[in-house]
Formats: sequence, C-alpha cells, structure tokens
Amino acid sequence: MGRILVARRLPDGGLDPLAGHDIVGPKPDDVPYSASELRDLAVDVDAIVSVLTDKIDAAVIAAGAAGRLRVVANVAVGYDNIDVGAAHEHGVVVCNTPGVLDETTADLAFTLILAAARLTHDAESDLRAGRWHGWGITQYLGRDVHGATLGIVGYGRIGRAVARRAAGFGMQVLHHARTTTGEPGYIGDLDELISMSDIVSLHVPGGEQTRHLIDARRLALMRPTAVLVNTARGSVVDEEALADALHNGRLFAAGIDVFEREPDVHPRLLNAPRAVLVPHIGSASHPTRTRMARLAASAVATVLEGGTPTNMVSS
Ligand code: DGY
Repeated sequence: MGRILVARRLPDGGLDPLAGHDIVGPKPDDVPYSASELRDLAVDVDAIVSVLTDKIDAAVIAAGAAGRLRVVANVAVGYDNIDVGAAHEHGVVVCNTPGVLDETTADLAFTLILAAARLTHDAESDLRAGRWHGWGITQYLGRDVHGATLGIVGYGRIGRAVARRAAGFGMQVLHHARTTTGEPGYIGDLDELISMSDIVSLHVPGGEQTRHLIDARRLALMRPTAVLVNTARGSVVDEEALADALHNGRLFAAGIDVFEREPDVHPRLLNAPRAVLVPHIGSASHPTRTRMARLAASAVATVLEGGTPTNMVSS
C-alpha cells in the first residue's frame, strides 16, 4: 500500500481507485498547500494527486525523488503547473486526465461564444442594476453566431468537440494546428486564420511555447467585429493587450474562462466592455470532475502496482 498526498479536496468518489492506500491531505479546510509545505510533504509519499493550482516545481520533484515519490497525477488535462522535465530527469511519472473533459469544456467554449457574441453579460448587468428602461430596437446588438466563420486554434480533442457543435450552428469551421491535419478547413498560417475568422476559439496547451500566442499584433489582425474565446490557459493571451483591444473597440467581444495570474484578473479586463468572464469552469460539471479525479487516482494505483497507465505525459 502506498502513501499518497492528495493536495486538494476532490469530488465524492474521486479517490475510490485508491481505497486501501494511506491518504495524506488535503488540509481540512481545503486551503492550498504552500510551496514549502508541498516540498516537505513530497519527501515522504509515493504519489501526489495535484490540481492545476498546485505548483509541482523542480524543488518538489527533487524533494520527492530523494525520498520515494514515483508518480504525480494532475487532475486536469493541462499540466503546465508541473515541471515535467524535472520529473523525467528524476524518473517520476506524470499523468493527466485527457479524454474525459473534452465535451464539457467544449460546452463551456460554446457557451462563451454565444454569450460574448450576443452581449448577454452587458445586457444582464444592465437589467440587474436597474439600467434597462424598456425594450429598444437598437439595444444590445450582437453578432450572429449561426453562419459565422469559426477559427479554432489547436485542433486536439477539445477543439474538435467545439467544431462538432459549430456544425449544428451552420458555421464555417477553420482550424489551425502546428502540423497539418490534412483535413478540410486547415489553415497553416495562424495569422491568416485569425484574420479570416468571425470568432476565434483557443484550444492549445499552456506553457512557454504558447505564451502570448495571442498578443497585441495578432489581436490587431482580428476583425473589429470578431469575438475571442479562451478556455485553454490564461498565458496564451496577453491580457493587457486584450483589455486594450476591448476598451478601444478594436475587438467586438471576448469570452474568457482562464486568466494569466489566477485568481487575479487584470483590472482593465474586469471593467472591459463586451467581456464575458468566468472563473476557470471549463470542466466544471459533476460527472466530469468526478471522472477526472478517478482517472488521476487510477493512474496512481496503476503505477504503484507496477503498471503503466494510459494517461502518462512523462515517464
Ligand atoms: C484542465 O483540465 O486543464 C482544465 O483547465 C480544468 O478545467
């Protein structure tokens, strides 16, 4: 039986695959462990079950590997919170939760596409604040989603799930990926895709390679009538530049689920017009979050039994 650090509270049933193992954590009040607490705890466990806000950096990995740490399983498909290079160097397996959150995250991306294009946040805010004084034919004029051109950046499982939804709205779907997909709608030049699209939805992984992929220059390439949606990682978009584009009216609207410095949100994005902002809820449905926790927990159980999980990002 292994000793496993579970860094944060998980949905009921999420840890069932680890029944019989010795579980350490989370803190009773579910407060995140600090970097030094994670380092200290890592020394004496076989496995860590982390979430995307737990920074499993080189120091945590090294401390764990000097003890008996064998696996870190992130309850997320993204793993930019984990130093995968350090894990590889120390022979610590890293796992994530691919495949079980695609449809739920695509649902949220589509929610943001619709909400941002149709200005539902500004309209609802006026209504709740008593600023709506009756129907008007020129009020809250948004952009049509049906028939629009959707540019999907990153054509993995989630990007494809968004594309399926777009088909039902009669949208023209273009996509960009680093290597050619050979499929209809592939645009090799990201700048071209951005300038051709009415709506751009981001589905690339986070990390250094994609940091500020959407910067001031690329935002300027977008049509002034266009909508940007980000359910990927906050670091993919330069938030300052996005706030500028919204305030200056150079971009029609944005739907944002992920932020550069969570839980902080750029103050000029908070008060930007035509922005729908939600707090990183892409995969937040009961069944999906439970499936994610179980998948991560199963990976730990498999590694501790000497097996090879299917959801490994590094070994
Ligand atoms: C992930 O799994 O990476 C998502 O961002 C969680 O919602």
